[in-house]
Amino acid sequence: MPQTAEKYEIAILGAGLIGASWAALFQHHGANIRIWDPKPEALAEVAARMAGPAAQMGQVAPDVGLPGRLTLCDSLADAVRGADLIQENAPENAALKHQLYAEVEPLMNGEAVLASSTSALTWSDLSPGLQDPSRLITAHPFNPPHLVPLVEIFGTDPVRISRAEQIYRAAERVPVRLNKDATGHIANRLASALWREAVFMVQDGIADVEAIDAALVNGPGLRWSVLGAHMSYHLGGGDGGMAGYLAHLGPSQERRWAALGNPSLSADVQAELVAGVTRAAAGRSICELEATRDTALIAALQARKDAPYV
Ligand SMILES: NC(=O)c1ccc[n+]([C@@H]2O[C@H](COP(=O)([O-])OP(=O)(O)OC[C@H]3O[C@@H](n4cnc5c(N)ncnc54)[C@H](O)[C@@H]3O)[C@@H](O)[C@H]2O)c1
Repeated sequence: MPQTAEKYEIAILGAGLIGASWAALFQHHGANIRIWDPKPEALAEVAARMAGPAAQMGQVAPDVGLPGRLTLCDSLADAVRGADLIQENAPENAALKHQLYAEVEPLMNGEAVLASSTSALTWSDLSPGLQDPSRLITAHPFNPPHLVPLVEIFGTDPVRISRAEQIYRAAERVPVRLNKDATGHIANRLASALWREAVFMVQDGIADVEAIDAALVNGPGLRWSVLGAHMSYHLGGGDGGMAGYLAHLGPSQERRWAALGNPSLSADVQAELVAGVTRAAAGRSICELEATRDTALIAALQARKDAPYV
C-alpha cells in the first residue's frame, strides 16, 4: 500500500467547489493534477480557490512530502490522457455527464478509472452510453472532500474499484463500498433520513431549528463521530450488547420509528427553516461559517488521530 499519492496522475474534470477541493487534497499528497473546466473563468480562478484548502491540508497532513504538479488544461484531452484516475465533478445533470463521458472514454488509457463525485445520481443512471461501463465508478465524497475522509464507492469491476481505493487511501481518504447501487449512496441516505425528521420536528412545532441542531451536535453527533449507528446500540445494550439492546429496547425502538414524521417542504416550512438558520448564523456570512466549520473539523480530525474510530 503506497503511503503517498506521489506516483499517481489524476485528472480533475470540473473546477467548482468539489473539483477544487479534490485537487488540493491529491496535490498535497504528491499526485500530479491536471484540471479542466469548460468555463475559462472557472479554470482561471481554481488555483486561487485551492489556496485555502491547500493551507488546511498543511495543518491536517503536515508530513507527507512534496506536493505534486498542478497543470491547468485548456482541453479535456490534455487532462485525461495518461491519467490513472479521472475524478469527474461536473454539475449534477445526467445528460451533461453522459455527454462528457462520451468525450472522455476514447481518451482514457486501458487501466484508468472514471470516478464520478455525483451526490444523487446512481451508477445505473450514469453508465448507459459508455462503451465499457466497467470503467465507471461512483466515488462520492462528503463536502469538503479535502477534510472529510469518506469516499463512497460503487462500480462493477472489482479490479478498478480496488485500484481507485488504493489511490483514495494514498490521500488518506476512507473508501467505503456499496454492495448495491443506491440513490444517495450510504451517507446521504442516513443524512436524508435524519434531516427528514429534523424538518418534521420544525413543521410539527416540537422544537425550533436552533434547538434541533444543538441537540444533534451536543448529543448523537458527537458520539457518531467516533461510533457508528449500529455500534452505538451495541454499547447501549450494556453487557448484553446489541442482542441485549434488541431484547430490552427493540419494541420501544419500533414505537419510536412509528412516531416519526414525513414533512413536506411547503412554503411555510421553508420560511421557518430559512428564518431558523438565519437566527443561528447571527449575522455571520457563509464564508465565516465555513471557516468556523473547517477549524472545528480540523481539530476533530486531529483528535481522532489520538483516539481512533471504534
Ligand atoms: N456541493 C456539494 O456539497 C457536493 C458534495 C459531494 C458531491 N458533489 C457532487 O460534485 C459534483 C460537482 O458539484 P459542485 O458542488 O462542485 O458544483 P459547482 O457548480 O461548484 O462546480 C461544477 C463545475 O463544473 C463545471 N462544468 C460545467 N459543465 C461541465 C462539463 N460539461 N464538464 C466538466 N465540468 C463542467 C462548471 O464550470 C463548474 O466549475 C456534482 O455531481 C455534485 O453532486 C457535490
